[in-house]
Amino acid sequence: MLYIGVDLGTSSVKLILMDEKGQIKATVSKEYPLYFPQPGWSEQNPEDWWKQSVEGLKELLEGQDRSQVAGISFGGQMHGLVILDENDQVIRPAILWNDGRTQKQVDYLNNEIGKETLSKYTANIAFAGFTAPKILWVKENEPENFKKIKKIMLPKDYLAYKFSGSFCTDYSDASGMLLLDVKNRKWSKEMCDLCGITEDMLPRLYQSYEKVGELNAELTAELGLKSGVVVAAGAGDNAAAAVGTGTVGDNKCNISLGTSGTIFISSYNFGVDSNNALHSFDHADGHYHLMGCMLSAASCNKWWMEEILQTKNFGDEQKAIDKLGENHVFFLPYLMGERSPHNNPDARGTFIGMTMDTSRADMTQAVLEGVAFALRDSYEVAKSIGIKLERTKICGGGAKSPLWKKMIANILGIKVDVIETEEGPGYGAAMLAAVACGEFASVEEAADKLVKVVETIDPDPELTAKYEKKYQQFRQIYPACKPIYDVITSE
Ligand code: XUL
Repeated sequence: MLYIGVDLGTSSVKLILMDEKGQIKATVSKEYPLYFPQPGWSEQNPEDWWKQSVEGLKELLEGQDRSQVAGISFGGQMHGLVILDENDQVIRPAILWNDGRTQKQVDYLNNEIGKETLSKYTANIAFAGFTAPKILWVKENEPENFKKIKKIMLPKDYLAYKFSGSFCTDYSDASGMLLLDVKNRKWSKEMCDLCGITEDMLPRLYQSYEKVGELNAELTAELGLKSGVVVAAGAGDNAAAAVGTGTVGDNKCNISLGTSGTIFISSYNFGVDSNNALHSFDHADGHYHLMGCMLSAASCNKWWMEEILQTKNFGDEQKAIDKLGENHVFFLPYLMGERSPHNNPDARGTFIGMTMDTSRADMTQAVLEGVAFALRDSYEVAKSIGIKLERTKICGGGAKSPLWKKMIANILGIKVDVIETEEGPGYGAAMLAAVACGEFASVEEAADKLVKVVETIDPDPELTAKYEKKYQQFRQIYPACKPIYDVITSE
């Protein structure tokens, strides 16, 4: 049997065709535009996701035995607000996870409603990228659009709706809306009331590995598939990536170095940290997880390479880096503001510490290290509530760099396990489809059978000690810069 995983990312949709043994038969990637209509805003057109996904599916299936395709599922960029009117038309472009326009609404929720109350309703507090503050933003700034809303969904759920007609979401992705009672896995009536919406505007909730419907007849014919292809709910991209890297069950970790950077810790138990600095969400395996999310990770390196150094040759730039743990330059990776743990859309990217002998390689090194230090910030919060990790998996575009993986192992002081298939969300999505089709009894069984570690990077005690010193310096820079960020973003 064959299973399709659709990873609906921020720069492109990546599709994977996987067989029941976990072998990848084909992959396709299709890009679409990302719009920044104002500084700190970030939008995309859901129709672009749909069109490129269908084009991608056609390419993916070329030359394959289409009669074997049994199921399809998704891993999607989280938190994005997609709103449809009574004719199922998209009302306005989707407002994405890395959009920072909702500071006023976030302040209202966190300060006037109160963090404790929000945490009681949802297990989380408000962050600019979450969905509920965006609904409030539309209500206040685009009342005409707000009045038209009949359906509210997340990015991947738009694809599931177009594929199957099922108005659905899954618990992991729904967790990031600030509308879900994460612990009890149901919509929060209180949060709906606060946002001025009703529960019938929200999708039906499923486990990520549950069937939500079948591929519609038109698409089935267009793609030349047999009828009855199962559509499974899928997951937020981080939960899907965790499935794809075998980060399921209790106390396992995955780090994703994509456009965003996340540290994802799976757990059998529900939990929150005292400041809600980490997100407390449901997991795609039916349990829970904690997650720290930084808004710019591999995207910092892409920005530095392509926009500033004007090169595409990332590998060559990294070859010139030879003094690990000794860099006098620091980089704060807040190019889109920051989510975890600072919760500050006004934070900005910052280089500090240059001298006349600073080289191009030092600056590149600082960018890579800055992302790793910022992940360590979230790991420190996890440690503060008693979480102890010995190892992590790693995935995302940045995980292709051996140097970056070495930095992460030594800056966090944990072993980094590299897996055979680093495809992350797409692979996890295909696994969820396989579980929905009955190929595996559970997500944990699928992970045990399909995910293989091929290499482990051990932290080196000498380098870890050098980086410890550097990290203690790094963590003093943000508090010192914070008042400056407030000033330079104030008008
Ligand atoms: C997670 C988050 C990002 C997006 C990226 O909270 O906002 O990782 O899911 O697609």
